[in-house]
Amino acid sequence: MVRVTRNYQFSASHRLYLAHLSEEENQKLFGKCANPHGHGHNYTLAVTVEGPIDPRTGLAVNPFALDKLVHGHVLGRIDHSYLNEDVEELRGVPATTENLASFARQALAAAWPADFPALAHIGVRETKRNVIELPVIPQKV
Ligand code: NI
Repeated sequence: MVRVTRNYQFSASHRLYLAHLSEEENQKLFGKCANPHGHGHNYTLAVTVEGPIDPRTGLAVNPFALDKLVHGHVLGRIDHSYLNEDVEELRGVPATTENLASFARQALAAAWPADFPALAHIGVRETKRNVIELPVIPQKV
């Protein structure tokens, strides 16, 4: 069994705030990330799969097939978007990197082909200082 990670760059903007809190309370909770007009990041999404090496190809996953899946179900929906509004799953919840990683995990798990190696881990790097790691618990069928 091997683990293979592919990294994907995307850019998006967001604003961290809770609608029921005052400006002051939001600043206290989220700092400058609560600034009213939002701000952007150059994120990295890391998708890790785990499976056996195919003896014919020497690969554990077809990277192009994985790229197509990630682009189709995650990157195409978040790249150059305003996460708070443009991503349906993030409306009404804080557009944190934690919630963004959860969205990516959910979207990939729902579309995951049966003949792919297991989806093992999702990572989202927002800044050098802020990296969210999300293991994927195997789903019981
Ligand atoms: Ni931010």
